[in-house]
This record gives sequence, structure tokens and C-alpha cells, in this order.
Amino acid sequence: MDPTPYVREAGYAERYRDRRFTSGSGPVTDHRERSILRELLARCSPKNGMWLDAPSGAGRMSSELPGHVVQLDRDFEMVRAIPTGVCRICACSTQLPFSDHAFVGALCCRLLQHLPLRAERVAVLRELHRVTTGPVVATFFDAMSLQHARRVMRRAMGKKRSGRSAITRAQFVSEAREAGFARIEFRASMRFLGEQTFALLQR
Ligand SMILES: C[S@@+](CC[C@H](N)C(=O)[O-])C[C@H]1O[C@@H](n2cnc3c(N)ncnc32)[C@H](O)[C@@H]1O
Repeated sequence: MDPTPYVREAGYAERYRDRRFTSGSGPVTDHRERSILRELLARCSPKNGMWLDAPSGAGRMSSELPGHVVQLDRDFEMVRAIPTGVCRICACSTQLPFSDHAFVGALCCRLLQHLPLRAERVAVLRELHRVTTGPVVATFFDAMSLQHARRVMRRAMGKKRSGRSAITRAQFVSEAREAGFARIEFRASMRFLGEQTFALLQR
């Protein structure tokens, strides 16, 4: 399926790589997200082998994955901004260019909030399910949070739309089940305050 366009201005990839998580609240957010990912990976005893980081952005979280990592992003500039990488691919997460069960696990960090349609999110999760044999860690924005309530209020007041979408945990479970996952565990960055939520998805 054709995903919602995700267009960024020139220089965005380098700024995202060099500044997004190194200034303001970025370092704290980055530290928190890495800790959660480590905790979730420890919980599912991940296998060494080939892992997929999709979307990888500029590769921020790839080093947290065990084994060899394939980095994938739809934005060619972002792929080009990856400092190092065993294998970097420019492709769309709704149509992964890999065979079934090619990876032992996958990470999908900070993508689903950019996809407003359920069908798009399910398509991404289904592809991750198809290409893996083991766990998938995915993040989404939780609608049951103060941060999301603020976003809704700003929209109602006519402020600029952020383009981020949030869903409830129940919605996420329903979408992950539709994609083929049976077991879903959550770990929020800041439950009820922040939107960012991690989910460990298993068969
Ligand atoms: C907010 S960045 C997150 C990058 C990285 N996972 C991280 O946490 O730092 C979101 C990335 O998703 C990529 N993206 C957006 N839509 C995509 C799609 N349909 N398939 C693959 N990548 C996509 C964008 O190019 C961007 O690099």
C-alpha cells in the first residue's frame, strides 16, 4: 500500500542525527528509550543473528540490538546520514524487501505515530511479523496521556497540527493481533504523562 507521504525539509536528516537527541530534553529521552529497549530485550532472551532496525533513521538505536543489524529507512537522506552500518537500505516499512523469516528480531522505533491510518500501521506490523522469527519491539504514541491531551487541545485552539497520531493500548493490541502477534507487553516512557510507549510483540 502507498503510505502517507513523509516529506522533510533539506538538512533534516543531519539535524535529526546530530541534534535531536543531544540538546534540550533529547539526552534524557534518548537515555530513557535505550533503557526501556534493553529491558524489553532482556525480557525475551533475544537470539544473536540478523536484526532489522526499521525505520533506523540515522541509526540511533541500532547499536542496542544484539547481533548484526540491517538498517532501513524510507528517506534516502536519512539512510545517507547513517554514520556506520553493516547494511543500509532505502525502502518502505509497508513493503519490506526481505524474504519471510529473514531476521531473528526487529525494532520499529518512532514510526507508527507518523501513520494516521490503522491500515498503514497494521501493514507495517504485518511486514515485521512476516520477516522475523522472533521478537519485535515497536513504539507508538499512547492517546491516554497528558501529552496527547495537550496536543488535542492545541489542535482545537487552531494551533499548527503536529502530524503525530496517538492510539490507545487497546487499539494497538487489536492492530498487533491483526498483524499476527499473540503476546503484547507494554512499557511506557512516562505512563499517563508522555505519549511514547514501547511494545514487545511476540508470536
Ligand atoms: C522519528 S524518525 C525515527 C528514527 C529512529 N528509529 C529513531 O528512533 O531515532 C522516523 C523515521 O521514519 C522514517 N519513515 C517514515 N515513514 C516510513 C516508512 N513508511 N517506511 C520506512 N521509514 C519511514 C523517516 O524517514 C524517519 O527517518
